[in-house]
Amino acid sequence: MSAERVLPGDDERTAFRESLAALRERARTRGACSIMELFASEPERLARLTLECGPLSIDLSRQRLPLAELATLFAHAGAAGWQAGRERMFAGEKINTTEHRAAFHVALRASNPMTLAGDGDVTPAVRETLQRMREWSAAVRDGRHRGGGGERITDIVAIGIGGSALGPDLACQALAACAHPDLRIHFLANIDPAAWQSVRQGLQCRSTLAIISSKTWSTAETIANATTVRAWLIAGGIPPAELHRHFAGVTTRADRALEFGLSESTLFSFADWVGGRYSLWSAIGLPLMVAIGADAFDELLAGARSVDEHFRTAPIERNAPAMLALVSLWNSLALGTQTEAVIPYSAPLRRLPAYLQQLQMESNGKSVDIDGATVDYPTGAVIWGEPGTDAQHSFFQALHQGPAIQPVDFVLVAPPPGPLSKAGAMLLANGLAQAEALLRGDHESDDPHRRCPGNRPSTTILLDALTPRSLGALLALYEHKTASLGWMLRINSFDQWGVELGKRVALRIGALLADPSLPLPGDMDPSTSALVERLRRR
Ligand code: F6P
Repeated sequence: MSAERVLPGDDERTAFRESLAALRERARTRGACSIMELFASEPERLARLTLECGPLSIDLSRQRLPLAELATLFAHAGAAGWQAGRERMFAGEKINTTEHRAAFHVALRASNPMTLAGDGDVTPAVRETLQRMREWSAAVRDGRHRGGGGERITDIVAIGIGGSALGPDLACQALAACAHPDLRIHFLANIDPAAWQSVRQGLQCRSTLAIISSKTWSTAETIANATTVRAWLIAGGIPPAELHRHFAGVTTRADRALEFGLSESTLFSFADWVGGRYSLWSAIGLPLMVAIGADAFDELLAGARSVDEHFRTAPIERNAPAMLALVSLWNSLALGTQTEAVIPYSAPLRRLPAYLQQLQMESNGKSVDIDGATVDYPTGAVIWGEPGTDAQHSFFQALHQGPAIQPVDFVLVAPPPGPLSKAGAMLLANGLAQAEALLRGDHESDDPHRRCPGNRPSTTILLDALTPRSLGALLALYEHKTASLGWMLRINSFDQWGVELGKRVALRIGALLADPSLPLPGDMDPSTSALVERLRRR
């Protein structure tokens, strides 16, 4: 690219680079401050950094971020086009530039018309699908939809992977308390035959129904598992003419699902502007709707909608997703953090870290900017975590005394009104205690082995209860944090080309393992060749 050529967007790029340089400089000099001293010198700190967002309360005050630095962060958000990105997303523009698609998941939970740029209002189609889901899931739940032999459905095998599984899986576990008591939902994602072996324990063909969810209907794991389950149903005596009573499908590729043998009446579609990891709100949520019922699913959408409204309208200093993104950016620049832990103090939220891993790492694990230029700033923090208090007895040692700073999001659930059980109180006390311990450290002992440095940043997110509404809000909060961070980093948060490489390579190796007579390609690396040969000898 010649230096003289003025490209559209050059001004934006220059503004971004300048504001990022300014932010980097501030972060380099101010990151070493003490959070306790900030509390002492900034009386308004707690109020300024506690944000209300629907059923969520978010406390960012324990971040190592002086209030005076917010101005530089806001200036960067402006220069990076955060506000414009947000507006373009809500306007249904093709912000996923490499796939030439909108990222319009907000339209899935909107109560007002939402116009896809260059197209019409998408909400009538969204509502129509929701209505079909409502009717079908009600029929399964109340026993009107039966298996081929006339038996009531007791078990649903939800087949899908990645974005077509993680959301419903998390939500089914999180909301198990309000699920149908006589329906069990099993998730089958992994292609490992052991996964199906474990799911099929105790299943009866006649009372089992499979929901196959795949946006593309081409994902190897999902098609393989669907084929296995179909063969199991046939072997179990379900006549081919009755198979349709044991399957439903969710996809953007109805043609492929019909070819697989599904019937049109149990096919549920969604649009290609719904990204896999943003798809829980679409027909991908069908297993969840079967579990908790359509009214509770509506509540989930309402919770997400409340955060959409907040995100769309709140000024940046009160905008919870934007502030989470800015904190993430600050930590990476000021403290050199490369990971973010998420610790739900709620056993039903045990799958939250896995869900957030895909959401954030598939979205922002990128090394080139929106123009394809290699970035020279940190992106794509590793997201990880486990539920508390379990995690306290495994990796928290490293959080307290390890050399690297790993910021933590503590996710707590407020207890119901009334007296708190002893165990419930201990759970909450532990969540609060860990955040305080990371902040204060332990400087009492003369023994260096016992001292904890403290001054380690964390965020606390408090849900008013664990309900469909608060869960919807929590997930939408992280969705918008992820997109906001993408805009602030000037990357495309909505594609995932890196995943394709592994799929291609696996196809080639799969063929070699399946047919030992095939010669090993000369361009295969020595390690892979040796392992393929060893496995073929077995
Ligand atoms: O792993 C890549 C990916 O494309 C994810 O983005 C997606 O959620 C998942 O695979 C499943 O894809 P599909 O829904 O098309 O089966």
